[in-house]
Formats: sequence, structure tokens, C-alpha cells
Amino acid sequence: MSKLLCLRPFSLLPAVLSAIATLAITPPAPAGPPDPASYSATFEHAAVAADHPLASQAGAEILEKGGNAVDAAVAVSFALSVVRPESCGIGGGGFMVIHLQDDPRFGTLTTAINYREQCPTGIDSMYYTRPENAEEFASTRGAKAVAIPGTVAGLFYALEKYGTLKPDIVLAPAIRAAEGGFIADDHIVSSARDIGRWIDKDPILRRERFAFAWERFCARGTLKAGDRLTLPEQAQALRLLAQRGAGVFYFGEIGQAIIAAIQRDGGPMLAADLASFKVDEIRPLQVEAAGRTFHCMPPPSSGGMALAQTLGILERSPQKLTDHPRQSPASIHLLAETMKHAFADRARWLGDPAFGKVPVERLMSDEYLRQRAAVFDPTHTLATDRYGTTPGSPGEAVDDGGTSHFSVIDARGNAVACTETINLEFGSLLCVPEFGFALNNQMDDFLTRPGEANAFGLTQSRRNLPEPGKRPLSSMSPTIAISKDTGRVELIAGAAGGPRIISATLQIIINALIHRMTAADAMAAPRFHTQWMPDTLWLEDELRGGGLESGLVTLGHHTAGKCPQAAAQMILIRDRRIEAASDPRKGGRPAGY
Ligand code: GLY
Repeated sequence: MSKLLCLRPFSLLPAVLSAIATLAITPPAPAGPPDPASYSATFEHAAVAADHPLASQAGAEILEKGGNAVDAAVAVSFALSVVRPESCGIGGGGFMVIHLQDDPRFGTLTTAINYREQCPTGIDSMYYTRPENAEEFASTRGAKAVAIPGTVAGLFYALEKYGTLKPDIVLAPAIRAAEGGFIADDHIVSSARDIGRWIDKDPILRRERFAFAWERFCARGTLKAGDRLTLPEQAQALRLLAQRGAGVFYFGEIGQAIIAAIQRDGGPMLAADLASFKVDEIRPLQVEAAGRTFHCMPPPSSGGMALAQTLGILERSPQKLTDHPRQSPASIHLLAETMKHAFADRARWLGDPAFGKVPVERLMSDEYLRQRAAVFDPTHTLATDRYGTTPGSPGEAVDDGGTSHFSVIDARGNAVACTETINLEFGSLLCVPEFGFALNNQMDDFLTRPGEANAFGLTQSRRNLPEPGKRPLSSMSPTIAISKDTGRVELIAGAAGGPRIISATLQIIINALIHRMTAADAMAAPRFHTQWMPDTLWLEDELRGGGLESGLVTLGHHTAGKCPQAAAQMILIRDRRIEAASDPRKGGRPAGY
């Protein structure tokens, strides 16, 4: 299966760049339906669903030791940094939504932690348009693509405020995995093959700029499933973090090594930039739909807004998803048309609210959601400019992976939904060799070259131009649903996969809560993706051909195959049992007790 993402449509990027514009969530399609036992399980007390079995086990180990969901989440994240270096890690950033149930310190509370990377001071809105930064992949590979990493600060913030265990305990499973090694699976092999092909073409990339990624993550182009990978250098970084805390990453030895790696490769980040990274704790966005309260991530996530808007519009629509068979042209049409409003608003209105007003209240208002619901035409798609805010209303005109999600629930009913990213697979490919991790390429999530789409094919407005200290817009959508009947967590979900995060998270939530599917079935069900622009409805193979696709074409959709994939993780609490499912598209497996 092709792993290409949408290229910048108006640029003359060489074909070679297509090979790097890939995501870390695109494993080979499984042949036939996957066996649910390979990617899902039921537990009585507590569970973790992550996209690597060792990461789920790291969290389950902490839960069994009496840690709460936040302790477990921090353990999972550090473990993922080791076993999914293609997807996330201490060189990246993320969002965490936390729900505490009757906590002795905080009572019942839901909060969100924003540790999305920030733009360094040396990069402004015109940076990538200047001749000295004209290298085609300046915003995707190498030191100029690196934003200030936030994962370490975010995890320590969460642990110190909402966790209960000490760093050395929660970091222990990750240190063990880094030292003892882990077995390469299809996902890392396929990611390493993609970037390896690109690195291998140029001796400068191979021997100098991305030598650590080439040697260690790609095994010089020979990595195969079943090989054992060890990361003793990252074990050393994790040990330092366990002993000395986050400061060692932002002001100490690890920080010095990060800045040295960036400066060797000609990047602008300074030690003062790294030292200035700030974690932001914020109130989640809330939406009432389908008898639940959904807690979603606010901007600079676009995913929370998109989920909240889509669920809010569906709630107000006279047409209901349940009026139609689940995978019929009519139900996919309703959901896709609703999602297009959210993606159109993403492109026009969203950015980091710390750097300009994002009209969250208006876009989430009852009146606005009703208006969007009212323009739905059950017989046809609309002209593209009719999605989202109507033309002529205040605002701007459109001027224009490597990610991992995990879900945790503990025995007390506390929950964490966490999505983390280094952006494209293995991030910028620029590694910190002394400490064995890749730095992100999150700068490409900004609007780096006005008029061009980013590596995910997303068009964006000037609200998302780079500015020192600003965080790039994200699609990450960690979500917790609380049952209105019980007041307790009913579902914890999210995904990896750039904009497909939003469509996948929505579809698994709808499958589980509206169509009442099991977590395993909700996860495995074939999915579609649309992001408003390009005006395409991508269908997974099982949805292609036959009456379903021709029905969608009749309704005006431009259907396509080779659906770019997402990898979701979900925990569903139903009838007092915990159903946990990892996405069979990536190869995770839940753990718990
Ligand atoms: N880097 C992918 C995202 O944050 O949406």
C-alpha cells in the first residue's frame, strides 16, 4: 500500500520528497479481518490501550503497583518514546486530557495539559520563504524543522500535580525497554524502510546529517521484523530524568546535547529557547451529545473543536445517523458532510489562541451549530465554499506521521486520554546521538509557506503562521466521555494520523456509543476520511466498490481509495466491564487486570 501523504499541491517538490512525507501510522493492510484477540481484551479493574504492547504493559505494571491513571500514562509515554521512536518520544510534544474521579486531593475534576511544541525565537512568519531556508524539506527534515520539544515538561507537570508515584518508579519500564531492547514489528520496519530509502540516496544525509537515524533506527536499510533494537543512549537520558527531573532536559546535559545537534545541522534554536518552554493547563472543551459529556482538547488542537463541532451539529440535525444502516451511502454522507464544516473552520479560523483570537464560543454556539446542521442536503454535497463559516461573514478568507495515542483507566475510575507526536515518522530525522532520540519536525504543522498545504495536505490560514513562542495547530484529539447517567467515565479515545486523527476518533466514538458496537468491532470497522480540502472522500478498501461507493458518488462525493490511515486506541466501560482495543492497523495490544 502506498504510504504517501498529500504533497504540497502548488509546489514543485521533487518525487524524492514524497517518500518522506509519510506518516508513522500506515502499516500494511491486514489480510482479512483481524482476530479481535490480537488487538483487544476485556478487564475487570483497570486497562491501558497503547499502540505498542510493551507500552500498554508498562502502564499496566504501574497500575498494578497502585499508581493512578496519570502515573500509568507517564509510564506509557516514556515507554513509547523507546518502543515507538517513529511515532513519538521525548523529542516531541503532546496533549493530555485527565479525569479524576473523587480524588482525595482534587475531588472530581477534568483538565487538559498542553505540552505542544513551541516555535523558537529565530523563526518568524517569513522564515521558510527566505532563500537561505529554501531547501524543499526545510520544514520537514533537519534542524530547521524542529520546534521546542514539550513532552518531558508535560509529563513531569502531570506527574507532579496529578500523579502519586516518584519519577524513578514510572520511568523504570521505559529504562528496561531501552536497555534490554524490543523486537522490531511491521510498523517500525515499514517506517524505517520509507525514510531509509530517502536517506540512502544522499551520502551527506546518510553519513552526516541523519547518521543516527540511518544507523540505529534503519539498521542501514536492513531492519526487518523480529530484529532486536536497543537504545542504551536513551536509557541514559531516561535515567538522568528519573534522578534529576525535567530540568536536565531543558537546562542540563540533555539540553546541551539537543542544542549542539540542532546547531551542527544549521538550525536556529537556542539554549534560551529550550529553557523557555512552558506547559499550559487549560479547561477542556465540553460538548453534550448522545447522552454524554465529551471533554475534548481546546486549541491549539483543532481536533477537539472538530469533534465537538461535528458531534454538536449531528445532535442538532433533523437527520440521525441511526436513521440509516451504519455503512450506507446515506449515513456516510451525513457524517462526511458534517465533518467538512469542522475541517473548513479549522482551515479558516484556528491557530494558537495565545497569539490571536480564536472564535471558539462562536464556532461552538448553539446558533452556529444549528445553522450548519440546517444546510445539510441529504441528496447531494454542497459547493466547497458552503462548508464552515459562510462567505461574507467576518473573518479571513482561506489564504492560503509520527503520532501515538493511548488511553488509560484505573481501578478508581480516573482516566487519561493522551496523544503525542513528533509529526512525521522519526520526526525531523535529526537525532540527539548522545541520548538516542529523534527531534520532532512540528514546524511543518504551521503554515510555513503561504499558499501551500502542509505534509498532510491541510490548507491553513495566516492565524497559523510561525511566531516565536507560538504552538502549531494540531489535529490531536484526546477525548474522554462521561456518562450523564453515572457521572463516570464511559469512553476514552483518540488516534494518530494527522487530520485522520479527527475522522478516526469520531468514527470509533460513533461506532461504540451510537451504534453500540463492542470496542473491538468499533475499532476494526472500515473507516473513511474527508478533510474538506482537497474535496475527496477517501474510503478504506472494505468500503470500496459496489453500491456503497456508487451511492456516495451519486450524492456528489469524489471518492478515492488508498485511504490514508489513522491508528486509534479506545477504552469503553460497559456493563461494569472494561473493553480495551488497540487499532489493528498499527499493531498495539491493550493490557490491564
Ligand atoms: N503532528 C500532527 C498533529 O499534531 O496534528
